[in-house]
Amino acid sequence: MAKLNPASRIAELEATIAHHNRLYYSLDAPEVDDAVYDELLRELRALAAEHPDLVPEDSVTLRVGGEVSALFSEVRHASPMMSLDNAFGTEELEAWGERLHRLLEEGGLGAVTYTVEPKVDGLAMSLTYVDGVLTQAATRGDGVVGEDVTANVRTIKTVPERLAGGPHPGTLEVRGEVFLSKAAFAELNAAQAAADAKLFVNPRNAAAGSLRQKDPAMTATRPLDFLAYQLGGGTAEGEAAKLATQREVIDLLAACGFTTAPEVAVCSSITEVDAAANSLLERRGEIAYEIDGAVVKVNELGLHAQLGATSRAPRWAIAVKFPPEERQTKLEAIEVSIGRTGRATPFAVLEPVFVGGSTVGLATLHNEDQVAEKDVRPGELVVVRKAGDVIPEVVGPVDPKAKRRPKAWSFPTQCPSCEGPLERLEGESDTYCTNVDCPAQRVQRIVHFASRSALDVEGLGEERVTQFVDAGLVLDPVDLFTLDVEGLAKLERMGELSATNLVTALEAAKRQPLPRVLVALGIRHVGPTVARAIAAAKPSLEAIRHATAADLAGIDGVGPTIAESVARFFAHPTNAKVVDRLLEVGLEVEEVTTGSDLAQTLVGKAVVVTGTVAGYTRDEAEAAVLARGGTSPGSVSKKTFCVVVGESPGASKLTKAETLGTPIVAAERFAELLETGEVPS
Ligand code: IVH
Repeated sequence: MAKLNPASRIAELEATIAHHNRLYYSLDAPEVDDAVYDELLRELRALAAEHPDLVPEDSVTLRVGGEVSALFSEVRHASPMMSLDNAFGTEELEAWGERLHRLLEEGGLGAVTYTVEPKVDGLAMSLTYVDGVLTQAATRGDGVVGEDVTANVRTIKTVPERLAGGPHPGTLEVRGEVFLSKAAFAELNAAQAAADAKLFVNPRNAAAGSLRQKDPAMTATRPLDFLAYQLGGGTAEGEAAKLATQREVIDLLAACGFTTAPEVAVCSSITEVDAAANSLLERRGEIAYEIDGAVVKVNELGLHAQLGATSRAPRWAIAVKFPPEERQTKLEAIEVSIGRTGRATPFAVLEPVFVGGSTVGLATLHNEDQVAEKDVRPGELVVVRKAGDVIPEVVGPVDPKAKRRPKAWSFPTQCPSCEGPLERLEGESDTYCTNVDCPAQRVQRIVHFASRSALDVEGLGEERVTQFVDAGLVLDPVDLFTLDVEGLAKLERMGELSATNLVTALEAAKRQPLPRVLVALGIRHVGPTVARAIAAAKPSLEAIRHATAADLAGIDGVGPTIAESVARFFAHPTNAKVVDRLLEVGLEVEEVTTGSDLAQTLVGKAVVVTGTVAGYTRDEAEAAVLARGGTSPGSVSKKTFCVVVGESPGASKLTKAETLGTPIVAAERFAELLETGEVPS
């Protein structure tokens, strides 16, 4: 057999998968069944992870469950995606209404009604459906040319792949907003905190960042939503001609399976419009997503063309802007906190103030540049609000032009905890304490280990952990399990009862489901969602710690970045030691598999299965290997223990096994392999 050439195999797989994508998504005429398709994709992903340099920019691996797209290539909109003019308050709204009536009278046009819709604070998106099937998603960009984000948008659950209530012949362009609900934003930031990733400033930024991921698997972990409100210029004449009003547009979009705003009002005068907008403002807190205003549109679509547009905005619509709830308070100080990776985050210490439903005393300032940009100075009055109604945010100084202002704040050069240097690398926005022995970092690593999404040990907050670290009782998370009642009871503010409770809680925390253990380890990018995805595919800690990045990248919901991070974590000797010590002190990982009572014959061994093994589906064959502690990657490498060859095996795996001299096991001997963990002779 010819020697395997990864470049040509990757090209061949890209072309084959693209072909099947087109048959499946665009022509609704698949040629192969899902299992065959999945196998091709798995092989390609494995190769791609091994040879990232050979992966084309528009690789089919860079999308999840949808059609291929060149990520972030340019898209020219069928009609411009315009902005809206703003009206602040009733007077400006009335002025718009008067101008509108003048234009209508001059044109001899008839009566007008209006819709009032919530103005979602997200990112405008254009979705193109051809014959009812999603073919393209594009950002607004500069309004004329946007970016193709199809692969990422396909991961949004509320963007239908196919329109409901069909048939929908021809082209339908749906415009709407991609956004994060307030709850999703709070959850995302909690997960970011758990993975020691940066917090997002507000839902809009978070949605934008999530959409601009190079890796759709990453976007898929973000709970994005889509709200439809408009038909775009790409819509076929026939489809649009059926509709007379904006109200009908929204009803059509809802019938197609889109989420639309339930709060749309139809009004017959500007007075009613004003009341409807005010009512939205009052109900703002009850709406699941952040709104920054009301969008008022002329309801009669026939009038839109006649009213036309200015260079930036249509004359038939206006945004009534809402003020975010803001309060003033004194900025008492700016301090820096050290995270478990050493990141130094500046935060505002505020004179407590009630805003957006709760009392705010601290607010993150994110990084050095943010402080400089806001130009807030300790000692002065600042404006505070809730970003996304959730996260307190310092907006800026109340009076930036005051004659006498306090001195500008500058980022400390020394870590407030260990007094080591704080370093900011060129081109990066974050500053780090690089001393791994820094007590603050230790404390945060331990707090994280015990936190709710990790081992969930009650009573191990920052204060307690700091006390233990200061007393020299614990240096790292594993040390927690060596604490005893006697030692603890000697500490201040710690009675015998609390000490006993804590030791009991720690003992109980030794038995853990695998995903929690993964989160607790503090691997970059591994929050609860990713941890669950990994554990579902590789149900034992042994299997995960010995998996290659290529292996991990094949898991649904795990892209190359995450895979790389996990593999690198376990490959690091210090981390490997922590894992070993955890197991030594008796951490019991509840494996996800049901077959955990099986003999662990294949621990640390990678068994590649190719072709059909009689009596097993491919997933079952893989599961059988995992249940015995082994791994079952999608491709052959130097680390492969053996290759099990069933009926119609993949040629490339066989070739590679031959090239590398990997042992081959006939399908009939699979059971023997599982039983003994040895290659049957
Ligand atoms: S209609 C020609 N309806 O607000 C204008 N826009 O400030 C077409 N937006 O770019 C947009 N909610 O991203 C419309 N119900 C809604 C909206 C809405 C939010 C956004 C949209 C637009 C921006 C203008």
